[in-house]
Amino acid sequence: RRILVLYGGKADEHSISCISAAGVLKAMDTTRFEPVPVGITKDGRWLTGGTDPRDFDLSSGSLPTVEQSLGSRPVVVDMGGGPDGFYARQPDGSLQSLGHIDAVLPVMHGPYGEDGSIQGLLETMGLPYVGCGVFASAACMDKDFTKVILAAAGIDVVSGITLDTRNFKAADQFSGQAQALQAQVDSAGLSYPLFVKPSRAGSSFGVTKLDEQGQAQALAQAVFEASRHDWKVLVEEGIAGREIECAVLQARSDQEPTASWPGEVVLDRKDEAGGEGQFYDFDSKYMDEDASHVEVPARLPQDTLEAVRQVAIKAFKVLDCSGLSRVDTFVTPQGRILVNEINTMPGFTPISMYPKAWEATGLPYGDLISQLIDGLLA
Ligand code: DAL
Ligand code: MG
Repeated sequence: RRILVLYGGKADEHSISCISAAGVLKAMDTTRFEPVPVGITKDGRWLTGGTDPRDFDLSSGSLPTVEQSLGSRPVVVDMGGGPDGFYARQPDGSLQSLGHIDAVLPVMHGPYGEDGSIQGLLETMGLPYVGCGVFASAACMDKDFTKVILAAAGIDVVSGITLDTRNFKAADQFSGQAQALQAQVDSAGLSYPLFVKPSRAGSSFGVTKLDEQGQAQALAQAVFEASRHDWKVLVEEGIAGREIECAVLQARSDQEPTASWPGEVVLDRKDEAGGEGQFYDFDSKYMDEDASHVEVPARLPQDTLEAVRQVAIKAFKVLDCSGLSRVDTFVTPQGRILVNEINTMPGFTPISMYPKAWEATGLPYGDLISQLIDGLLA
């Protein structure tokens, strides 16, 4: 079976996708599947040939990109062509078919990769693909709408407000609106600390934690940072609780989804301020291997772990997810479970929770990938 592995993409999470793809390709059972890696550059060109993502040098401390690795053979997508519809343009301008593609594994995070865009393209081409469909992808990419849908189903979500920043163009316009923004936040009665984040982004891009009330300029700066990733900005209450993540798998659409043991990312690195103000940010996620480790199952009472699994499965179903998703929750000391967000194409880097959670639940990484692909082709 020939599996088109799409990675990179136009989102801020381009490089994370490259590392995820390297992980997936290394884990894939190549006696059963022939991967056909195609990288999408940040400016949207589709490339093939060149270095295999498995050969990315991840030790250098710099983040990989599709262009670094893949040389320059552009792929032309023939929209009507279905499984035989991918062509690579040769240096002489001629087109060469990439051959028959049985299924697609879109290992892309963030807008264009995880928000229904690529899923819609693949639907249009009539190609089976791993993961959530158009609606679930779009709904889970947008943390604002995710909360609306979850809340309607009676699932606890984090309180917050949603800001439309389309009228603000430059940093000084945010700072000029600082008092108005502060008044809006105050009137919502949110308790500190607050998290300011883009509605449609991932990997903590554009996220700021605000510890203290009454710092309107800091709030304006945080909203500006978030707005660089998405005009829709969320200001949410920080939850005094632990971040517990649960991997949900539904390899076949005719089977019920199952949940892994919930896991916890434990931060090992303390920042200079002695740990104050720290959260699981981009650097601790990807740039500093010693920053954190995952613990699966999380150190919680058995009944709490079971409750998280049930909430994760319910959230997965409510959002119409399929294939896979990682449901991120907060668990308070009183045992209240709130869903923070749902990642329809969770990180697959070597230190990522999704494959690690399944490994700890008894499903090795390679078998996980096989199940996801087999489920499509069954
Ligand atoms: N958005 C990143 C890749 C994650 O959720 O794992
Ligand atoms: Mg996330």
